Amino acid sequence: MPNPFYDRDIVSIKDFTKSDLEYVFSATDRIRAMKPSQRGELGKGRTLGYIFYEPSTRTRMSFEAAIASLGGSSIGISELKSSSVEKGESLADTIRVIDLYSDVIVLRHPMDGSSRFAAELSENPIINAGSGSEEHPTQALLDLYTILKEKGRIDGLSIAIVGDLKYGRTVYSLLYGLANYKVDIHLVSPPSLAVRKESIYDVQGRLKITEHNELDGVLQKADVLYVTRIQRERFPDLQEYEKVRGSYTIDNATLQKAKKDVSVMHPLPRLDEISHSVDATKNAVYFRQAANGKELRAALLALMLNESPAL
Ligand code: NCD
Repeated sequence: MPNPFYDRDIVSIKDFTKSDLEYVFSATDRIRAMKPSQRGELGKGRTLGYIFYEPSTRTRMSFEAAIASLGGSSIGISELKSSSVEKGESLADTIRVIDLYSDVIVLRHPMDGSSRFAAELSENPIINAGSGSEEHPTQALLDLYTILKEKGRIDGLSIAIVGDLKYGRTVYSLLYGLANYKVDIHLVSPPSLAVRKESIYDVQGRLKITEHNELDGVLQKADVLYVTRIQRERFPDLQEYEKVRGSYTIDNATLQKAKKDVSVMHPLPRLDEISHSVDATKNAVYFRQAANGKELRAALLALMLNESPAL
């Protein structure tokens, strides 16, 4: 199979087939097994450029760590105040310029559609690192990869997605990715944060979804609990946020009611939705998930930058 990621934009996970997803998962396995010296050849002399219009810890750092592990380098802007964005430079001009200095561009922006827009302007491929509440495709790739590694499969699992299903962009990319598999999906949220039906319209027929307001009913069924942060920054009215903050907390008492081997996942950052006491349990997967982020992004970059990478 030809490398489906070479010179491609990663704007939406919907742009990729199931075999494309599997292609990057097996590349991730291979890259993890490689010696650092071999791995360091895959991105030699290549530059990753990034700009983050919203805060980031894991996404930015894992991309930087990933390109460094391939022997490449990264340049970018994460502090807008020190860039010409502060002077009023447009997104279009900013992307055009980053494009001149980089081989691949990572963009996070608060607007839905921002990455698609950037991809049309830039010669080099764009990676959507979060576009408003629309999508975060590389997060979904690493989430699916993590499920595969933790459970040995994705088909046949029961997956509960909990929290802010209205504004959480990782939720949408994950749902689009899961539409390639046979899974039972339980969506758990307060009524005001239910999933946006119009955004799952085209994948709905391929997903078996049940919606809930309470966690209790799904705990005995779920193989994976994918917990999300209430996205305070997306609420048009902070009083509405106050009504739903702290709606769900996963703690050791919750785990008592869940399947013994339930995998608790979270894209992070967490606030109070997963108690720190869960960290020491074997159910806590979220830090391994973050670690997988670097490896999967390294594999993805190697595939994007090389038509036939030696991996
Ligand atoms: C997520 C995001 O930015 O959408 N963070 C991440 O990339 N892991 C989740 C969040 O901010 O809640």
